Amino acid sequence: MYLQETLAKSPRWEAWMELIELFTGLFLLVFLQFHMLAVATIILGPAAFNRDALMLDEYYLSYIGIPLVILAIIVHGLVALRKAPWRYKEMAIFIQHSRRLAHLDTWAWFVQIITGMAVLILAAIHIWNTLSTWPIEAAKSAFRIQSGSFSNLFLLLLIAEIHAMVGLYRILVKWSWIHRQKFTKWLVYATIGFVALGFIALVVFYFLDVKGLT
Ligand code: HEM
Repeated sequence: MYLQETLAKSPRWEAWMELIELFTGLFLLVFLQFHMLAVATIILGPAAFNRDALMLDEYYLSYIGIPLVILAIIVHGLVALRKAPWRYKEMAIFIQHSRRLAHLDTWAWFVQIITGMAVLILAAIHIWNTLSTWPIEAAKSAFRIQSGSFSNLFLLLLIAEIHAMVGLYRILVKWSWIHRQKFTKWLVYATIGFVALGFIALVVFYFLDVKGLT
């Protein structure tokens, strides 16, 4: 980043931005993992999935949760992307430094920018699809997944879980709450676990008999 830009920034403003990035990121991380558990109820059968969806609707949790998630995605995206190397020259310097330093944490930030932008696009498509056929029902979700959404959702699953876990790693390292190596192992196991759960749920949706449900 150019020296002038760095010097022009107010430290108080930057501290607020860091806190907003931290809390919206943690909120989205918790949402994503609970969302995966909710989606995985399809493994127990369409009735369990529908009961869950109905409960979210009846207690107005969806009506509070969905706007909050959308707002958190927008705010988190805008705040986090303020530091991205947008200009070609900045990007070239960043890649050059990362290569020279050859340090995992510098590359982790790069991974966050790329996966973050992909999540923004894929999550927007996913939320739009979900809202356009509201209310949520197993038959509608299965139909969507069998008619082409499988690969999009699998990509979103993979990218969002990587983004969430690398983000958590960076938060913990930044605020010095962890022993890096010990914790990385547990984060990798958790990521594999949630990706496996989401993948199994997608496969169950893919083979669900939609006609039998409607
Ligand atoms: C950043 C990632 C994601 C966001 C922000 C997101 C957001 C949402 C929201 C807001 C809903 C509405 C219902 C609710 O309150 O739970 C929903 C529904 C749903 N989501 Fe996600 N989701 C994400 C990732 C995923 C992934 C990775 C999968 C699949 C493995 C998935 C599968 C579903 C399914 C099956 C539904 C039910 C409605 C439908 O079929 O569209 N979601 N999602």
